[in-house]
Amino acid sequence: MRSLAISALCGAALCACGEEPAAPPASALASALTEHVRLRDDARIVLERWCGQCHISAYDSALPRALAVFDLSEPEWSARMSTTQLEDARGRVRDRRGPEGDLPITDDEIAIVERYVAHEIERRAVSD
Ligand code: HEC
Repeated sequence: MRSLAISALCGAALCACGEEPAAPPASALASALTEHVRLRDDARIVLERWCGQCHISAYDSALPRALAVFDLSEPEWSARMSTTQLEDARGRVRDRRGPEGDLPITDDEIAIVERYVAHEIERRAVSD
């Protein structure tokens, strides 16, 4: 049993650390994905605070027309947005502009949304 387990481990180790130069792209892909998820979810937290009232489907205050544009409950919350809508969202946050008046959005929160929108626009350009 033990030797079987050890040889299985060795096999796995060989696979992971083999001399094939094919390993780096896989890990680069994994870290790009991690980065995407981090930026996306950081922006989600900011938008949940300021836009969630209408753009989170679980809330009674959610508005169907707002959800049709984006729903922060969806993991890839910006996937259904056009790039123009994404830039529009960034502009509203940057200008601290809510549909019902000014919002005290912080500089850090603006930077978080800026980072995600820039990343997402670049990602779309690459995958086009
Ligand atoms: C009080 C409700 C409410 C809040 C709060 C709200 N929105 Fe919306 N939002 C809507 C509605 C309703 C629509 C759909 C408007 C339409 O169809 O004309 C919409 C549409 C949008 C659109 C698409 C506009 C277009 O022309 O395609 C963007 C972008 C957007 N919202 C961003 C935001 C951002 C960013 C915040 C937070 C800073 C926010 N919204 C907060 C109700 C809201």
